[in-house]
Amino acid sequence: MSVDKNYYIKTYGCQMNEHDSEKIAGMLEEMGYSSTDELEEADLIFLNTCTIRENAELKVFGKVGSLKRLKRENPDLIIGIGGCMMQVEEPVEKIKEKFQHVDLVIGTHNLHKLPELINEIEENDERIISVWEQEKGLIPDLPSVRKSDFQAWVTIMQGCDNYCSYCIVPYVRGHERSRPKDKVIKEVKKLVKDGVVEITLLGQNVNSYAQDLEEDYDFADLLTELDQLDGLKRIRYMTSHPRDFNEKTIKTIAESEKLCEHFHLPIQSGSDEMLYEMNRGYTKEEYLKLIDLINKHVPYNSITTDIIVGFPGETDKDFQETLDVVRKARFDMAFTFKYSKRSGTPAAKKEGQIEEDVKDKRLQKLMDVQNKISMEENEKLEGKTLEVLVEGESKTNPETFMGRSRTNKLVIFPRKPGLIGKVVKVKINNAKSWTLYGEVVKT
Ligand code: 5AD
Ligand code: SF4
Repeated sequence: MSVDKNYYIKTYGCQMNEHDSEKIAGMLEEMGYSSTDELEEADLIFLNTCTIRENAELKVFGKVGSLKRLKRENPDLIIGIGGCMMQVEEPVEKIKEKFQHVDLVIGTHNLHKLPELINEIEENDERIISVWEQEKGLIPDLPSVRKSDFQAWVTIMQGCDNYCSYCIVPYVRGHERSRPKDKVIKEVKKLVKDGVVEITLLGQNVNSYAQDLEEDYDFADLLTELDQLDGLKRIRYMTSHPRDFNEKTIKTIAESEKLCEHFHLPIQSGSDEMLYEMNRGYTKEEYLKLIDLINKHVPYNSITTDIIVGFPGETDKDFQETLDVVRKARFDMAFTFKYSKRSGTPAAKKEGQIEEDVKDKRLQKLMDVQNKISMEENEKLEGKTLEVLVEGESKTNPETFMGRSRTNKLVIFPRKPGLIGKVVKVKINNAKSWTLYGEVVKT
């Protein structure tokens, strides 16, 4: 039992990792550790890493290097690294050899073993590298320390069987495994009892929820059941795959009360050839049909996406197809990325890798086109009143609060006491590409 000790967690990457960090915090607090925001005060520092693009890795190595000084000043400090990057051989080898000040390396599949491994390090003062190559058994139920009192993530599945040719996720997160619906519903009920009003269901591919389970049950069925829960106000989910996003799910969302009208559907490219090479399982036309279907059933919505430029073999013509689909779909927002080679994935071995300066130019062009569309879509909201869940102080101005609309738009407005955690109506006065500014008209 560790008494009077502090932990500090730094998280890289996606929501899945953010939620894992809440579980890491949960396990550490059960061991008697308390949280600190000051690196210098920590007895245990944990980096929860991401490996989706090379940049993510570079950031982690920068941070690991900078921790050397702290370890020198305090040899009892425990430095642990976990997360997706630790499921890849090269970075683990590098840490083993070059970063001797790291005490613990743990993978994504054995995260639940963290307390055991920390105890061993505390008792024997030894270095532990413990990474399981594969997942074993069910998704463990772990305690969790939430950052928010009224918002929560809920894991519904882990892993991914899609094998998009550019993506490292299936190799670091394992095969798709769904959590039984009874466990999910029980967890959500408990959260609601504790005051949570908004949940985000998490999985790398939520649309294939329960397909690996025995029951005749699917994602839309889960949404329908969760929509019935009294006290819960909003349901979100991520990430969706356009190939598996079916009409049943869209209709369920249209008919439900709590499901938010925000659709994040990563398109990745507008070129059929690139989509085929990426192993995405849909064409540009099929994707656009899906958007039409959403617009038909849920006319007031927002649609966002992820796009990669510079996938191996991408020609100017392919890139023009991406610009074309962006103009046709009129996304509210897009996360845009330059293709990053991940070793072990099929795309890394492809010929026709694209020069960095070509990727830069395409990314810039794509962002220019999308930002204009985002701005135009947001301007349509000026004068409208949106339902906003107030999250807290805005990052840039302490005199203002920030919250999100049901369509996941960031909304900023003058602060007023007693609003945090409440759903309020905000009239939008001024729109920017990323942010809406307004005033509360009804609490
Ligand atoms: N290079 C660039 N972007 C990638 N993504 C996933 N793998 C890569 C890669 N190798 C992007 C995809 C995905 C998002 C989470 O990250 O667009 O939807
Ligand atoms: Fe999330 Fe993928 Fe990064 Fe892992 S590699 S943290 S699953 S984005």
